[in-house]
Amino acid sequence: MSDNTPRLAILISGSGSNLQAFIDAVSNGTLPAQIAVVVSNRPGVKGLERAAASNIPTEIVDHTAFSDRLDFDTALAKSIDKYQPNIVILAGFMRILTPDFIRRYKGKMLNIHPSLLPKYPGLHTHQRAIDAGDHESGATVHFVTEELDGGPPVIQARVPIVSGDSADDLAKRTLVLEHRIYPLAASWLCQGRLCMRDGYAYLDGEHLPQTGFDYRAD
Ligand code: GRF
Repeated sequence: MSDNTPRLAILISGSGSNLQAFIDAVSNGTLPAQIAVVVSNRPGVKGLERAAASNIPTEIVDHTAFSDRLDFDTALAKSIDKYQPNIVILAGFMRILTPDFIRRYKGKMLNIHPSLLPKYPGLHTHQRAIDAGDHESGATVHFVTEELDGGPPVIQARVPIVSGDSADDLAKRTLVLEHRIYPLAASWLCQGRLCMRDGYAYLDGEHLPQTGFDYRAD
């Protein structure tokens, strides 16, 4: 890969199945990027094994070793910046970030959230969708801003909620699509097709709808 291939820092807290989707997309050429580093706030997680298996450098910044969020985020930024990434990907990273950290990577940081935002920001999204009697759930990739799960959506994929579904059933069904839409959104950012301007997401110069690009599985 040439030197100006966009460099990604991928932040994880657990299994890293989305990380795996990025690793696969880079290796099959659909994501024009290199994964410069994988950073986990938890030691011993499966995502770190996935990174190591693909010879990707890893860093652990264990949040339990820090007395406050600011110190943790300062250490986190240091670990990330060592690798000079162009883009930061939150992939199941389960820490709330401070405004300073978020501003540092403004317009260059994406997150995936397992709901049809603006519905159900925060935790337990699938259970909340089931409890509300919704007929569908899904996932949203969005730019990260200071508002938790509130940055402009880039792409959204829907899945049906079937009678008798548990939150786990729904999570599994949704993950399959997460693995498609997240590398796709990242590839747009890497190609310079996607940007955030004045709090809105633009793709190829066009203002994206409020809920992002509507992904339809084939
Ligand atoms: C995904 O459902 C993602 O939407 C949420 O956390 C989960 C992470 O899964 N933010 P994985 O670690 O990528 O397997």
